[in-house]
Amino acid sequence: RVAGPCVLVLFGVTGDLAKRKLLPAIYDLGNRGLLPPGFSLVGFARRDWANQDFAQLTHDAVKEHARTPFREEVWKQLAEGIHFVPGEFSDDGAFDALAMALKEIDQTRGTGGNYAFYLSVPPKFFPTVVKQLKRTGLADAPEGSWRRVVIEKPFGHDLKSAHELNKITNEAFPESSIFRIDHYLGKETVQNIMALRFANNLYEPIWNRGYVDHVQITMAEDIGLAGRAGYYDGIGAARDVIQNHLLQLLALVAMEDPTSFDANALRREKEKVLKAVRLPSDLSLYTARGQYAAGWQGGEKVVGYLEEEGIPPTSTTETYAAIKLEIANRRWAGVPFYLRTGKRLGRRVTEVAVVFQKAPHLPFSKDDTEILGHNALVIRVQPDEGITVRFGSKVPGTAMEVRDVSMDFAYGESFMESSPEAYERLLLDVMIGDPPLFPHQREVELSWNILDPIEEFWATQGQPEEYPAGTWGPPSADEMMARDGRVWRRL
Ligand code: BG6
Repeated sequence: RVAGPCVLVLFGVTGDLAKRKLLPAIYDLGNRGLLPPGFSLVGFARRDWANQDFAQLTHDAVKEHARTPFREEVWKQLAEGIHFVPGEFSDDGAFDALAMALKEIDQTRGTGGNYAFYLSVPPKFFPTVVKQLKRTGLADAPEGSWRRVVIEKPFGHDLKSAHELNKITNEAFPESSIFRIDHYLGKETVQNIMALRFANNLYEPIWNRGYVDHVQITMAEDIGLAGRAGYYDGIGAARDVIQNHLLQLLALVAMEDPTSFDANALRREKEKVLKAVRLPSDLSLYTARGQYAAGWQGGEKVVGYLEEEGIPPTSTTETYAAIKLEIANRRWAGVPFYLRTGKRLGRRVTEVAVVFQKAPHLPFSKDDTEILGHNALVIRVQPDEGITVRFGSKVPGTAMEVRDVSMDFAYGESFMESSPEAYERLLLDVMIGDPPLFPHQREVELSWNILDPIEEFWATQGQPEEYPAGTWGPPSADEMMARDGRVWRRL
């Protein structure tokens, strides 16, 4: 899969995402031979910069964060197509200059009027940039070329604002040209959920309420704010990652098999699941929210959320969230899906654990029944990407003693191929125009529909419960599980 000639216009080049992920991903694509000939990268930002300043920023970002080794010839090729247009988002003149620059690039580099506009900017600027692209005609693709817009999350703050954002974007671009990034869908291990389920016959027969006790979806992070106070405060854990990453994981785990991997078929199945999600009737019992206090992490003392730079000392933003959801359909009725995420937790781990019911009868001694847990299939999204199956096995010896063991699949051991970074895959898909890994507007709105009542409830609850940094979240998250006679998996 190689993209045809095109220009990637990046708004927000000086941001953290551009430096850590996007610019290195572009280089890595080049290194893997996946960038089209003539590929050009245009940066747009409020800096009095020339092309070489942006090239320098890109160079430094690549050197620091690229996954693949630095090769002078790859860099040189990329650098030849690097341009910079200075300006404010509200400045008509700057966008006119951008349009001119793109025309020139088409002539010198043969990019044929094919442009992808990547909005890696704070959400408050989305409408301005999109309107500028419409005003200058850059959103309209002349015959035989394409124009696409890539929007980074958050897609709004709630259902209403997401709806407004979608409306503005739809006024400039047709839905088929809008690529909403949820970088979790770009992860190998997340795409592998579909392969695991639909390319095998082993799991699907038991992937339902007849066999599954519950599902736990965890996204734990050890990092704190990482300098993103301005973005994070007022947003919180649930809007930051449950509304998008975790609900997308839930949809992939719970959906029916799509008729094909075409975007429409896949999105339709995800939408059906999201539509069938039900909230617990008592949100005070089955949701938990926490905020990290000072503590120890990796042998270092770290400050609490309220002491972080840029955070008001009265902030009620949650840095931990846990929610119980159910899915009202034939396959899943009565099977709880527990979602949890948090910053400054014990360690970084994202996983989906499908926990099976216990065997209906155990012909062993009472002791064995106590040490035997539930069978579980754990999809290890990161780190240590792979899959683990937990099951009971006879302990070697003369007695019939049974104990839980694990069977592991690890990417590193089974595949020689290295996994591309999520953004590499997604940027390539944008350039190729392949939309299955990008959530549709309806999925975004359905996800807000799930989250909005929870956020409204939390807004009446004052300060989130404290948990010391480096621990596994607030006590209420454990109590929520205990109420159902279950426990969170120890990570
Ligand atoms: C982003 C969130 O979407 O995902 C961040 O905004 C979070 O808060 C990040 O740290 C985690 O991504 P990953 O790929 O490291 O799990």
